[in-house]
Amino acid sequence: MANEFVSVIKPGGKGVAGEGKAFSYPVLPVRDTVLFPHAVLPLTVGRESSIQLIQSLGEEKTILVVAQRDARQDAPQGVDLHQIGTRATVHKVVKMPNQSLFVFTEGMERVKIGEFGQVTPFLTAEYEPLEEVTPEKSAESEALQRNVLAQFQEIVTSSSTLSDDLQTIALNIEEPARLADFIAASLPFLTTAEKQDLLETPDVKMRLEKLNGHLAKELGVQQLRNKIQSEVQDSVQQSQRDFYLREQMKAIQKELGDLDETQKDVAELREKIEAAGMTEEVKKDALKELNRLARMNPAAADYSLTRNYVEWLAVLPWAKSSSGEVDIHKAQDVLDEDHYGLKKVKDRILDYLSVRRLKPDMKGPILCFVGPPGVGKTSLGRSIARALGRKFSRISLGGMHDEAEIRGHRRTYIGALPGQIIQHLKRVEVNDPVFMLDEIDKLGRDFRGDPASALLETLDPEQNNTFRDNYLDQPFDLSKVLFICTANQLDTIPAPLLDRMEIIELTGYTEEEKINIAERYLIPRQIKENGLTPEQIEFPTASVSRIARHYTREAGVRKLEQLIGTVCRKTARKVAEGMTEKLIVTPEIVQEYLGGIKVRVDTEIAERTKRPGVSVGLAWTPVGGDVLFIEANKMKGKGGVKMTGQLGDVMKESVDAALTWVRSNATAIGLEEDVLKDIDLHVHVPAGAIQKDGPSAGVAMATAIVSLLTNRPVRPLLAMTGEITLSGNVLPVGGVKEKFLAAKRAGVRDVILPVDVKANVEEDLTSEQVDGVTIHYASRIEDVLEIALPKTVSEAVQDEELREEMLAVAE
Ligand SMILES: Nc1ncnc2c1ncn2[C@@H]1O[C@H](COP(=O)(O)OP(=O)(O)OP(=O)(O)O)[C@@H](O)[C@H]1O
Ligand SMILES: [Mg+2]
Repeated sequence: MANEFVSVIKPGGKGVAGEGKAFSYPVLPVRDTVLFPHAVLPLTVGRESSIQLIQSLGEEKTILVVAQRDARQDAPQGVDLHQIGTRATVHKVVKMPNQSLFVFTEGMERVKIGEFGQVTPFLTAEYEPLEEVTPEKSAESEALQRNVLAQFQEIVTSSSTLSDDLQTIALNIEEPARLADFIAASLPFLTTAEKQDLLETPDVKMRLEKLNGHLAKELGVQQLRNKIQSEVQDSVQQSQRDFYLREQMKAIQKELGDLDETQKDVAELREKIEAAGMTEEVKKDALKELNRLARMNPAAADYSLTRNYVEWLAVLPWAKSSSGEVDIHKAQDVLDEDHYGLKKVKDRILDYLSVRRLKPDMKGPILCFVGPPGVGKTSLGRSIARALGRKFSRISLGGMHDEAEIRGHRRTYIGALPGQIIQHLKRVEVNDPVFMLDEIDKLGRDFRGDPASALLETLDPEQNNTFRDNYLDQPFDLSKVLFICTANQLDTIPAPLLDRMEIIELTGYTEEEKINIAERYLIPRQIKENGLTPEQIEFPTASVSRIARHYTREAGVRKLEQLIGTVCRKTARKVAEGMTEKLIVTPEIVQEYLGGIKVRVDTEIAERTKRPGVSVGLAWTPVGGDVLFIEANKMKGKGGVKMTGQLGDVMKESVDAALTWVRSNATAIGLEEDVLKDIDLHVHVPAGAIQKDGPSAGVAMATAIVSLLTNRPVRPLLAMTGEITLSGNVLPVGGVKEKFLAAKRAGVRDVILPVDVKANVEEDLTSEQVDGVTIHYASRIEDVLEIALPKTVSEAVQDEELREEMLAVAE
C-alpha cells in the first residue's frame, strides 16, 4: 500500500492569530521525543487534537513542538508540557492507513513557551526565542568540541546500528551549537529527559560538557558490554567456537577467492574415491556418503564420524597390488638365506607357493606353522613375504576375545573402528600382503562373541572375497591376501579353522642345529645390533654349545639369542670403556657374563636315578618336549596306591594299568606273588604344579615300579616313552620327534620308543639329529625292563661308576 501524500495547506483554515502583539502558535505535544533545532524528525501524530492541529495549518506551517512531562498523558494541558520546546516547520504530511499522520518537521530554534491561547481543538501558545550563549573561541572550547566529536565518532564506529554517514556529517559541522544539537539528536541511547535537558541548555559550552559526559558514559558502557560479551563467548562451548571460527574462515577464504576448506576436503576425498578402484556398488555408496558429508555442517556431531567413514573407504587398497609373479627360485634363495636347516618346512612352503604360481586364483588352504616358541615361525612368515616381494604384517590373535577386534564394530557404536584385518590392510596399502595371524591357538571366546568364527569367514577362501567388516559394511576382497597362521599347538585350534589349514610342523632344534643357527644368524645379528664388529668379539663353538646346553632349556633359539645379546652388550660396554683387543668368549667369560650354570639336566638325571624307583619319561608340551621324572616309593600298608603331581585321569589310569601288569607278572619278573600285600605305593610326578595327562608315561610308570620293587636303580641317562596295556604291550604315542629332541638336549644317551613309531623316526629325524643317541624299540614291557634295568651286579656297579663320574664333572 502506498502512502498518500496529503497537502495540508488549507487556506482560511483555523490558523489562529493571537490578539495583541504576540501571535499564538499551535502547540504539538509529543510523548517520547525531543526535537532539536536543525534536526528533521518524522513525528507520528495520532491524537485527534493533534490531527486537527495539522489539518488546520494553512500557509503558515510553523508549530511549536513541546515534549510532555509525562509521556502517558493522553490529553495534556499547558501545565503538562515542558516549558522549553522547539519552533518547527512542517514539511510534509503523510497519511497512514490507520488514520494517523506522519509529519516531517524540521526544528528551527529553541523557544520558551509563553502564554497559552486556546485549549480546544488544540493548544496554542505564544513563544519567546531562547537566546543561545555561544562560547568565545578558545583552546579549551576547541578541545571540548573535538573531544565530543571524537567520542561520537568512536561510538558510531563501534555501533552496528548507527550509520557511518553520521560521522561525516558531524565532521562537517563547525558551529559548536549545531554540532551539539546534531549529536544529541543522533544518539539513540539518550533518554527523553536527558535530551530535554540538553534542549533546555542554551549555554553552548555547558551543553557540550553535558554531552561530553553522556558520550563518555556510553563509551564506558560499551566497553563493559564488550568485555562481558567476550567473557560469555569464552564460556561458549568449544564446538560452537570452532563453528564460529570455521564460519569466519570460510568467509575469509571466500573473500580471498579460495575454495571453501570443507569443499576442498570433499573434493579431495572424491578424487581418492574415484582413484581407489572400488567396485561400482561400493563406489556408489561411498559417493552417496560423500555427498551427504558435503551438505553437512562441519560443526555437526556426526560430521567427523561420516568423514572418518568416507576416508576409510577412500584409502583402502581396493585395487592396489604389490606384486605379480611368484619366482620360486628367488623364494628358495630367500628362505635359505634367512633360515638354517628346516629343509622339509622350506620344501613344503615352496610346494605351496608353486601351486599358487600356477593357479594365482587358487582357493587353497591357509598355511599354518605349528611348533614351540622361538623355532622361527614368525621369521619364516617374514621371509616368505620378502621372497614374494609382498608387504608383511603381523596380527596377534593371542588373547583376542572379541569378534569385533577382527571384524570391527558397527558404525553406530561410539568410537567404532574397523577390525584388525581392515586396519592392517590400510597400513600396508596393498591388497595382497602376507598377513601372519600369530597365536591362533590362543584365541579366546566369551560373551563378546566368537572371534574364531569371524576368523573363519576371513580365512575361508570360499567366503573371503566378500569379507564384510562391521564398520565398513561393504564387501572387501581378501582373496589375494596370503594368510599364514602360527600356533604352538593344534589341540586348542577350533576344528572348523583347522580344517581349512595346511599344517606345517616345526619341531625344536638339536644342540648342533642351534649352534649352527647361532653361528650363522644369531651371533652376526647380535654383534651388529649391539654396535660391535666381528673384529671385536668371537664366540668359539664350545662356548656357544655351553650357553645352549647349560643356560637355556628350550626347543627354539630365542633365549639363546637373548643370552648372546647379553654377552654382546657387556662386551660393548667393555669396548666403550676402552678395551681394544678382541674378546674371545671363553667358558670363563660366559661364566662371568651370564653367571653360573643354570641348567644341568644330565646331572639331574644321574643324580635322581641313583635311587631305585625313579624313571625318566618324555613329555610333549606346547613349548617343545621335555623330560619328566616318575618317582615311586613304598611304605608299610595294605596294598593301597596314592598318586600325586596333578595327574589327569588318563595318566592315573596308566598308573593303574602299570600296577596291574606288575602284580599279574610278579613272579615272572622275580618278585613274590603277593609283593604288594603289606605295603602302600605312592607314585609321584614332580613339578606338581603343572597339570599332566596322557597315556604316554605308561612304560615309565611300570619301569619305576619294577625298579622300586626289585631294588635296582634304572640305568643312567636313559629315557623312555610309550603307552602300556594290561597285557604288557607297548603302544605308539605322539610327539615322538619333539620328545626325542628333548631327550637329546637333556643329555640322554639311550631312548626307548615303541616299535611302531620306528617309521616316523626314520622319516622325521635326520641322521645328524639322531647322532649320539641310541634308540631302542620295544613292543612289550619286558623289552623295556630288559634295557632299563641292570641285569647283573657288575652292570649295576658300572652304572654307579658312570653316575659318580658325571656328578664329579659337574662339581
Ligand atoms: N632356522 C633358523 N635359522 C635362522 N634363524 C632362526 C631359525 N629359527 C629361528 N630363528 C630365529 O630365532 C628367533 C625367534 O624366531 P621366531 O620369532 O620366528 O619364533 P616363533 O616360532 O615365531 O616363536 P613364537 O611361537 O614364540 O612366536 C628369530 O630371531 C629367528 O630369526
Ligand atoms: Mg612368533
